[in-house]
Amino acid sequence: MKSKLPHTETSIFAVMSGLANKHNAINLSQGFPDFKVSQELIDLIYKKMNDGKNQYAPMPGVLELRIALAEKINKLYALQVDPETEITITAGATQALFTAITAFIGIGDEAIIFEPAYDSYAPAVKLNGGIPKYISLDAPNFKIDWNQVKDLISDKTKMIIINTPNNPGGFVFEKEDMKRLEEITSDTNIVVISDEVYEHIIFDGFEHQSALKFPDLYQRTIAVYSFGKTFHATGWKMGYVVTPENLMKEFRKVHQFNVFCVNTPIQYALAEYLKDENNYLSLPKFYEGKRDYFVKELDTSKFKVIPTHGTYFQLLDYSLISDKPEFKFAQWMTIEKGLASIPVSSFYHNKKNQQILRFAFPKEEKTLDKAIEILKKI
Ligand SMILES: Cc1ncc(COP(=O)(O)O)c(C=O)c1O
Repeated sequence: MKSKLPHTETSIFAVMSGLANKHNAINLSQGFPDFKVSQELIDLIYKKMNDGKNQYAPMPGVLELRIALAEKINKLYALQVDPETEITITAGATQALFTAITAFIGIGDEAIIFEPAYDSYAPAVKLNGGIPKYISLDAPNFKIDWNQVKDLISDKTKMIIINTPNNPGGFVFEKEDMKRLEEITSDTNIVVISDEVYEHIIFDGFEHQSALKFPDLYQRTIAVYSFGKTFHATGWKMGYVVTPENLMKEFRKVHQFNVFCVNTPIQYALAEYLKDENNYLSLPKFYEGKRDYFVKELDTSKFKVIPTHGTYFQLLDYSLISDKPEFKFAQWMTIEKGLASIPVSSFYHNKKNQQILRFAFPKEEKTLDKAIEILKKI
């Protein structure tokens, strides 16, 4: 049997969480909240189940939910999208990404990926016979040189994948970045995938620069979102995509055969829950508080704090402590010190080592307190 992904190993998230469980370590590796989902939302789902909303949903999603999302998009990003033709509800962002990549990448097509990158992008490109072309961004600023992007574009370039706010980098795209992307891709057939799963987790006065805010760029964009990130419910695997009708037609051709439709009662519940904008507009402040809580005492530690302006991940540089490579240091810290994190090198195809670890802070204060204590003693 010939492997279609010969160089792909078990995901680092499974590896580090497994190690954390084995050694009873505090797990700040995988990015999921350890606090409760809104009781109101849970009650709504229960109600929808009792109301009989338990059978297949329409293929593109429950229309009430798509209408609620179109209103939200109009309010936040001043873009009018047609809920019938421009929004599809997916089984989380990962399915949305895979479906979008499969719909547009074929054998020999190139996709530009900025690293550090979420781990599903490149395998999805490769499984479709495509070729990832990497642009490596460096800590601590992860600045994109758009001239380098321009130079990498060729006749074979079919896709550019961006992610803002960025996991694991914690950086955000500024308006100028989006303008450059818009300009570089105008008059091309390149499809832009804009992974915006952390759209509401952004701090320090930064505004989320959604691709939906740039009308020309939107014409060639598939924007990807995750309810799991926004409503502290990563285990529900619910998300959606927004894209113009011509691209959506192709997206749905694949969507209907890899999942067809997704969880019905949750869709009806979300349609109602979204009516109160406070349910998502309160997020930046909430997570900024968590970020500040996590880093406030780390000034007295030997770790260097790399600024995080978005997402719920904090990068810490340990170069003053050890010259071990990232995976070895993360392993040592989990086994010997009882704190699990993710080596940032695992977000680069060439495992670039910058002596940085990623810590997830969507955790209760008591969990963060324990982690802070450990970090201060290393
Ligand atoms: C950048 C990014 N994109 C996509 C996803 C996947 O989201 P979902 O859990 O909705 O599939 C994640 C989850 O960690 C992520 O960090």
